[in-house]
Amino acid sequence: MAAFQLVSALVLSLFLQIQRSVLMVDGAIGVNWGTLSSHRLQPSIVVDLMKENKISKVKLFDADPTVLRALAGSGIQVMVGIPNDMLGILGSSPATSDLWVTQNVSRYMVKGGVDIRYIAVGNEPFLTSYQGQYQSLVLPAMLNLQQSLTKANLGGYVKLVVPCNADAYQSATLPSQGTFRPELTQIMTQLVSFLNSNGSPFVVNIYPFLSLYQSSDFPQDYAFFGGSSHPVVDGPSVYYNAFDGNFDTLVAALTKIGFGQMPIAIGEVGWPTDGAASANLSAARAFNQGLISNVLNNKGTPLRPGVPPVDVYLFSLLDEEQKSVLPGNFERHWGIFSFDGQAKYPLVIGLGNGRLKNAKNVQYLPSRWCVANPSRDLDAVANHMKLACSVADCTTLFYGGSCNAIGDKGNISYAFNSYYQLQKQEARSCDFDGLGMVTFLDPSIGDCRFLVGISDSSCSCIGCGIFAGLWIMTLWVLMYLRVLGSL
Ligand SMILES: *[C@@H]1O[C@H](CO)[C@@H](O)[C@H](O)[C@H]1NC(C)=O
Ligand SMILES: *[C@@H]1O[C@H](CO)[C@@H](O)[C@H](O)[C@H]1NC(C)=O
Ligand SMILES: *[C@@H]1O[C@H](CO)[C@@H](O)[C@H](O)[C@H]1NC(C)=O
Repeated sequence: MAAFQLVSALVLSLFLQIQRSVLMVDGAIGVNWGTLSSHRLQPSIVVDLMKENKISKVKLFDADPTVLRALAGSGIQVMVGIPNDMLGILGSSPATSDLWVTQNVSRYMVKGGVDIRYIAVGNEPFLTSYQGQYQSLVLPAMLNLQQSLTKANLGGYVKLVVPCNADAYQSATLPSQGTFRPELTQIMTQLVSFLNSNGSPFVVNIYPFLSLYQSSDFPQDYAFFGGSSHPVVDGPSVYYNAFDGNFDTLVAALTKIGFGQMPIAIGEVGWPTDGAASANLSAARAFNQGLISNVLNNKGTPLRPGVPPVDVYLFSLLDEEQKSVLPGNFERHWGIFSFDGQAKYPLVIGLGNGRLKNAKNVQYLPSRWCVANPSRDLDAVANHMKLACSVADCTTLFYGGSCNAIGDKGNISYAFNSYYQLQKQEARSCDFDGLGMVTFLDPSIGDCRFLVGISDSSCSCIGCGIFAGLWIMTLWVLMYLRVLGSL
């Protein structure tokens, strides 16, 4: 009886898996999966999260083997990334380029392997703040990589792209006046011609949030998709949102170098939920849902009506609390899911999809937190707090953050806990010279969430237990069936 139930359960789960991969649709919304987090979900849980939410395309920033192995057999289309600091060596050494393709692409492109479709050559290599240091390295790297792909018989299937920041182009006034930055004109012409001859799209990252964040007189409603009281009139074109205006500035820039028909993919777009006044759940939901609806309804822009971007990768799948906060405290809060795979707000990311579903089987550390000991004088705490926040994440404590109003003592507790969870609840990490103490009562207040870390060992005690249990049961079933067979 038990054996029969187990076998039928196995058959059913196999069937479900097959069915799930058939359900995946093309031309859908993808996501960026960055891993700059000290609370990293197991890659297999993240892949299940994407499958559960019918996310069929993912963009990575590197070629992490643990991530790629988890994507094997998932049916998800993958863009792997090459960091900017590898561009020099890839462009100057064909052997290194061959090796990179062999080790990071070809070996996964087997039956039941990873469906790698794109390689991102550098990440925003033309960014103004890099002061041109990667500018001349991009094309040589692409030429070598294209050769390496051809040698590996992947030349037509895996396409090279270069995710560009929107600062690669500009317009003094209206979208139709868009041009590439003067010092990039020649490189962009070569790059786009290369992309065009390989059937690759131009990949751009567009962030209306940053426009709003950086400029106090940017009209708030122009950042969203609900219509604007400040539409931009550009000849016959009228713009009601910053995204369309930015997109068409790129279309105009491409037209000026002779490639007005170039397909465009959005490498990153999104809205953060914390760490700035304009970064909150309702704004993020409004922006992302507005964007997704426009894309899924093939709305297009005034210069490309009815033609949505070929791909759109939301930034981002998960929060990453080890990202640099140089651009702002919001940097660590771009996820549509929190670090532990919980949907932050209701979002529908595909036609026929329901709202986002949470990650399953997340293994948390025990439910305990580190807080400031109320019986101690906390005057001497400033240095401890500073130290804790220099490694752990305290970005929500500042102006515009979800924990900005929790008071002095709350600030200290928050910092202590953030550090304690980062250290995987290691006992000494809640000491702080006797100023900290462990509590079993959740100190979260209102929207301010005191997190509990996740256990990131690839095989935790519970996981091993279940796995070992299943294995023993399978052996038992096999033996049982053999005994039955021999009767
Ligand atoms: C594969 O990619 C990773 C991550 O980008 C990199 O560190 C590694 O050096 C690459 N492998 C080779 C052989 O270049
Ligand atoms: C959320 O952000 C939007 C702008 O991005 C702002 O208008 C709104 O007031 C914010 N909401 C809250 C509750 O702070
Ligand atoms: C908590 O810390 C934040 C960031 O330093 C600060 O803005 C806020 O005023 C602090 N709260 C209190 C009550 O000190």
